[in-house]
Amino acid sequence: MMLNVENIRSQFPILQQQIYNKPLVYLDNAATTQKPQSVIDALCGYYTHDNANVHRGVHMLSERATAAYESARDKIRALINAASTREIVFTRGATEAINLVASSWGETNIGAGDEVLISEMEHHSDIVPWQMLCERNGAKLVVAPINDAGELMFDAFEAKLSERTRLVGMVHLSNALGTINPVSDIIAKAHAVGAKVLLDGAQAVAHLNIDVQALDCDFYVTSAHKMYGPTGIGVLYAKEALLESMPPYQGGGDMISMVTFEKTQYNDLPYKFEAGTPNIAGAIGFGAAVDWLCETGVELIAAHEQRLLVYATEEALKFEGLTLIGTAENKATVLSFTIDGVHPHDLGTILDREGVAIRAGHHCAMPVMQHFGLPATARASFAAYNTETEIDVLFAALKKAQEIFA
Ligand code: ALA
Repeated sequence: MMLNVENIRSQFPILQQQIYNKPLVYLDNAATTQKPQSVIDALCGYYTHDNANVHRGVHMLSERATAAYESARDKIRALINAASTREIVFTRGATEAINLVASSWGETNIGAGDEVLISEMEHHSDIVPWQMLCERNGAKLVVAPINDAGELMFDAFEAKLSERTRLVGMVHLSNALGTINPVSDIIAKAHAVGAKVLLDGAQAVAHLNIDVQALDCDFYVTSAHKMYGPTGIGVLYAKEALLESMPPYQGGGDMISMVTFEKTQYNDLPYKFEAGTPNIAGAIGFGAAVDWLCETGVELIAAHEQRLLVYATEEALKFEGLTLIGTAENKATVLSFTIDGVHPHDLGTILDREGVAIRAGHHCAMPVMQHFGLPATARASFAAYNTETEIDVLFAALKKAQEIFA
């Protein structure tokens, strides 16, 4: 069975527009995906019919808002196959989820002489929180290298693991390179030395089937907006026993069960980590995005994107002066590249005039750029609604850019 891409495209109102009188070709999906009508309707429907605070009210609207908010949590639990909704904490996104773990679990479990092991291909959000923690606590940030294809050098990774390693932070699918990491092997090796593993799944969840129980990861984080949902909402998955052992990240309403000036008792999971009125509409929109993903089929989407990536890679290899950055054997959805004599930012601007949206820059992964000795790359990234015709438009626009700078 193949994806019905025309049907999918018709569900995304934003795609039905022209940019500079050209059809919009949206290839910046690793930065954020577009939203189907069902997600927009869920956001609108909440504010139109059900808006109220959650877990607090005794009235109908609050009951409806709470039911929708909690049902979204269960949809996400099912999508990644967590054992319980107690393990699903709503956050602002993957970045906040990593910061939560670094602050709460990290402060109590990582001290002087301990090590946090990450890879050279991490997004800044899986570097800086650990760096800040290490600076505060006298721990060491250790980095496993990548090769020139943009793959983790597994032997080097393994060599850097030791009984000092308290946590391995690893991107599941690299936003800058498209590399899919061998996360099961990484987790097995890390657990063998007693380290916990946090997987950054910001890019992965819309493109791969995720089963946190089969993976046996300790923490998994993701953001809704990279999976057809709204911005400002994401989740932290963590094993229940870990969340039980962790102190709250922030204090305030909803994360307590009893407060006196002498002592506060914290709420049950997952509410212990959700201080303050949450992003209720965002969570409900996230739930609608999960429904959309499941109804469309993550495997069908992944197969479609893989066909696009293969086609785009073939075109790229024929394109004189183009260098692919990130040629891992196991990769998905991302085509990062440079073109001789044209700065990626100029490429981005010229492509925009052709209606083609890509990202140009360091992709919040400056160490990846440093590895390849580049200031930036141009990056096209694919989603369910992209087509081969759009890839033809991309390469025609690249040709035009090349001619302008010749
Ligand atoms: N991390 C996002 C990207 O890759 C913003 O573009």
